Amino acid sequence: MPLKPNSELGSSPRRSHRLIRVGLVVFAVLVLLVLPGYLASRPGFFERYPSLSDQYGPWSKSTHVEAGCEGCHVSPAVGSRAAYRVRMVGEFYRSIVFRAKAPAVFSAPTNEACLTCHSDLRSVSPAGDLQIPHRAHVTVLEMQCIECHSYLVHELNPQGKHTPTMEGCLTCHDGDRAKDACTACHTAKAAPATHSGADWLVVHGTKKDDPACVSCHQWKDDWCADCHSQRPASHGSDWRAVHGEAVKRNRSCEACHDGPFCIRCHGEVPPDNFDAGLKIVE
Ligand code: HEC
Ligand code: HEC
Ligand code: HEC
Ligand code: HEC
Ligand code: HEC
Ligand code: HEC
Ligand code: HEC
Ligand code: HEC
Ligand code: HEC
Repeated sequence: MPLKPNSELGSSPRRSHRLIRVGLVVFAVLVLLVLPGYLASRPGFFERYPSLSDQYGPWSKSTHVEAGCEGCHVSPAVGSRAAYRVRMVGEFYRSIVFRAKAPAVFSAPTNEACLTCHSDLRSVSPAGDLQIPHRAHVTVLEMQCIECHSYLVHELNPQGKHTPTMEGCLTCHDGDRAKDACTACHTAKAAPATHSGADWLVVHGTKKDDPACVSCHQWKDDWCADCHSQRPASHGSDWRAVHGEAVKRNRSCEACHDGPFCIRCHGEVPPDNFDAGLKIVE
């Protein structure tokens, strides 16, 4: 029977040495890279930066806590998420000595990021009071979610909510690029009962000092004046001949015309109690 070669005799202690060395390396990688990477990728990590407290505080109480930070701010593509994790290992070590400036890893949330969790894009608001055809805006007009949802997590809108504002919509819905009739967007938030009278257009001017008008109609400075620049139904084809009679019946002319308008044809402010001092209603 041949003797076992020496090398085989000494193999088991040497193998275990190698195993220990590999184990140490694995342990070091875990402690020095993976653990910091894990810690720094948790949203709680950002609490250490004073400059982020405005974003962190409201987020921590929001419906989006489970989205972390990267859920919205990092593209869901595998490469982007991996690059983010790698970068955050470095940021972990940097943050031990330097916290004055937070890492610039918060790029604007993309639609892809939001759509990893949201797929059911409705056409009315959850409360049912607004028409909001999401697909028309997101798919057809190729808008970004955050163009409307900029108040989503970190900031309240002027009404104290996290929902989009009417002012945001009106940048496009100006009556030119897109519809601006109240009823294009509002459903149940119907006009008050006063408005349903058949003569509302004739009598609304007498109620104009009601402060409630402002709460609904102040959104566009020139909303009243815009309509007053359009020729009203009363001005039919014979208006030039009959307007003199109308002046005697009611004084609504001042809402839309000022004195100089009449002077154009009459050479002076016509009599019949027309008050040229009244300006166009705003
Ligand atoms: C649900 C999505 C969402 C989550 C989750 C989220 N954010 Fe944001 N974040 C936004 C939106 C929307 C904005 C506003 C972007 C805009 O209007 O351009 C924003 C803006 C920011 C900004 C300002 C960026 C700039 O350029 O002005 C910072 C900083 C920020 N977020 C940090 C955080 C931090 C830290 C977390 C985690 C603690 C976090 N965000 C989680 C959606 C999110
Ligand atoms: C990690 C998943 C996740 C991501 C990413 C995410 N959301 Fe949400 N979102 C939720 C959950 C969960 C809720 C609360 C439950 C619900 O209403 O469906 C919510 C609620 C909402 C609401 C209802 C209002 C509210 O605050 O409750 C809006 C609007 C919204 N998300 C928009 C967005 C937008 C825009 C983005 C991208 C910037 C986004 N979400 C990213 C999970 C997510
Ligand atoms: C044109 C503006 C606009 C755009 C663009 C937009 N939204 Fe909205 N979204 C709204 C409005 C307005 C509401 C209703 C808010 C309210 O309740 O008053 C809403 C409501 C929501 C809600 C809550 C209603 C629900 O279905 O539970 C979610 C979630 C939401 N949007 C996600 C998104 C996502 C994701 C995107 C991008 C893919 C997006 N939105 C793009 C205007 C917009
Ligand atoms: C980037 C420009 C833009 C913004 C911002 C925008 N919209 Fe629109 N919207 C359009 C365009 C363009 C159309 C299609 C033309 C039209 O119907 O007037 C449209 C159509 C609509 C329609 C369908 C109107 C109809 O009767 O066919 C509704 C409802 C609507 N938008 C609501 C909103 C709401 C609510 C907001 C704000 C949360 C908003 N939009 C913000 C551009 C915009
Ligand atoms: C392009 C869509 C759109 C049009 C057109 C529109 N609104 Fe709005 N309106 C909104 C959105 C979005 C909000 C914010 C959601 C909310 O607070 O319910 C809003 C909010 C309001 C509010 C509550 C404001 C507040 O401070 O909370 C009133 C009142 C209102 N609208 C009246 C009107 C009237 C009156 C008109 C027509 C003269 C009109 N809206 C036209 C989209 C629209
Ligand atoms: C849809 C178009 C339209 C809008 C919007 C409108 N008006 Fe008028 N307004 C008219 C018409 C038409 C008349 C003339 C009525 C008549 O006598 O036949 C008028 C008349 C008036 C008068 C004179 C009435 C009188 O009897 O002396 C006043 C004042 C007035 N409007 C104020 C306002 C104010 C304030 C607003 C905004 C809150 C407003 N209007 C919005 C169409 C409009
Ligand atoms: C609760 C909100 C609200 C209040 C308060 C309100 N309005 Fe309106 N108003 C609306 C809405 C919504 C419409 C659009 C109705 C429609 O298109 O059928 C509207 C339409 C109008 C119109 C145009 C009607 C037409 O036929 O086109 C006039 C004029 C008007 N309002 C004047 C006033 C005046 C003046 C006041 C104050 C006395 C007032 N509104 C108060 C919501 C309001
Ligand atoms: C486009 C030119 C024109 C403008 C602008 C005009 N008018 Fe006249 N107006 C006439 C003409 C022409 C007549 C005579 C009509 C007829 O008798 O056939 C007339 C007649 C009158 C009469 C009747 C005079 C009488 O002696 O019986 C009165 C009152 C009157 N206008 C008031 C006004 C007022 C107020 C304004 C401004 C809001 C005004 N007009 C703006 C052309 C105009
Ligand atoms: C709701 C607003 C509004 C009211 C109220 C109004 N007008 Fe006008 N009127 C107009 C507009 C807009 C025009 C067209 C102006 C132009 O073409 O420059 C016009 C044109 C006229 C014209 C010129 C007619 C022509 O064919 O050239 C006369 C005259 C006139 N109005 C007289 C009056 C008198 C008198 C009253 C009061 C009884 C009155 N208007 C009330 C908006 C109004």
